[in-house]
Amino acid sequence: MRILIIGAGMYVTGRNNTGTGTILSSIAQYSKLNEVEEVVVVARSKKNAAIIEKETNRINQTINSQLKTSYESISSSADLADEAMNVQGRFDAAIISVPDHLHFEYAKVLLELGVKTLIVKPLTPTLGEALELRDIQKQTNTYAAVEFHKRWDETNLITRQFINQGKLGQVLYYEVGYSQRISIPLETFKGWSDKTNIFQYLGVHYVDLFYFLTGYKPMRCMALGTNGVLKQKGIDTWDSVHVMLEWQNTKTGDLVVSNLNTNWIDPNVSSAMSDQRYKVIGTKGRLEIDQKNRGVEYISETDGIQQMNPYFSEYLEDANGNLQFQGYGHRSIAQFLSDVAQIESGNSTMNDFEGKRPDIQSSLVSTAVVEAVNKSLTANGAWVNVENIEEIEWN
Ligand SMILES: NC(=O)c1ccc[n+]([C@@H]2O[C@H](COP(=O)([O-])OP(=O)(O)OC[C@H]3O[C@@H](n4cnc5c(N)ncnc54)[C@H](O)[C@@H]3O)[C@@H](O)[C@H]2O)c1
Repeated sequence: MRILIIGAGMYVTGRNNTGTGTILSSIAQYSKLNEVEEVVVVARSKKNAAIIEKETNRINQTINSQLKTSYESISSSADLADEAMNVQGRFDAAIISVPDHLHFEYAKVLLELGVKTLIVKPLTPTLGEALELRDIQKQTNTYAAVEFHKRWDETNLITRQFINQGKLGQVLYYEVGYSQRISIPLETFKGWSDKTNIFQYLGVHYVDLFYFLTGYKPMRCMALGTNGVLKQKGIDTWDSVHVMLEWQNTKTGDLVVSNLNTNWIDPNVSSAMSDQRYKVIGTKGRLEIDQKNRGVEYISETDGIQQMNPYFSEYLEDANGNLQFQGYGHRSIAQFLSDVAQIESGNSTMNDFEGKRPDIQSSLVSTAVVEAVNKSLTANGAWVNVENIEEIEWN
């Protein structure tokens, strides 16, 4: 398999000591058991060439893989369509990991070229863009998905099972608290944090998750934000975003209320990069999931107190003592790569995965909510209807 990666940032390489990075390590792990001939990373800065080489060496040494990568700098998405790059003939799969507002333009070019594509979340900030991508994908019959890795986290699979088995009774409400350290907008995403907001970039995960858990239809929302801390530091975006979002179980007509509180101004001494927890409350029971405190607390004089999540993206030993890249972040990316391999070998078709993956069709839901939330934010918290997506079959 020949893979193109767009973007050379934190999620690809783990730059700025933000951890291991997920995308390159996942591909390297996948390549230990499956054929991966070539990985080409493209982004704008020429400086990334050295970073990609260094990170590839680090990963290969860590997990004993033999991944071969190279780097090319491009100036815009138009370069991908350039015949000299030969994207269409050269790559079996692409992974897009650039800032939120650029997902659309890269995905459009790749899907038009018929390259099977995985797009990091959010699919796009607006429903119009997402629908355009869905239409291109259908016309060109190209497999595509969004990297909503929370769908692979076992704690969420328990929630889904309990809801489906009726253990919670009729779901009444869903409450989410999700925040990140202020270093994320100030340092890590300094170049683009004012072009997104904390709900669009992060809160979207828990919108997709609730849709995945229930299949319910988002109906209307109201959103309020607070600001000041980031603005004072020259970044014009909300410090926190608070969303009241109503869903409908279209089978029974029952309404469900969700309440999502997000911020990205947590102190840098917070015990984890992401503080995240949610509750699902039903007529017969409740589930409370702490996705920050997974029971692993590390306390040291140099690193302070840290609550660690060993289940997302980690190098952990297998039974033979060899480090392997593991976690639900890895499984989400490996699933896409194995889907591509299945389709290419003729063992599966794109239709086999329909409704079973965070594909473009299913990711229209979270993007429709992001758009409605952004409208409500700019209308001082007015109620905004979530655009109806007629083609989706709701539960
Ligand atoms: N960091 C995470 O844990 C995480 C997890 C899941 C998804 N994401 C998503 O991944 C995307 C990227 O996140 P990141 O953490 O890698 O960000 P980042 O800021 O670290 O990296 C962004 C990369 O995009 C490149 N880039 C910027 N503009 C470009 C352009 N016009 N053309 C080509 N390349 C361009 C930059 O050079 C950089 O390599 C975002 O949409 C984010 O929401 C991040």
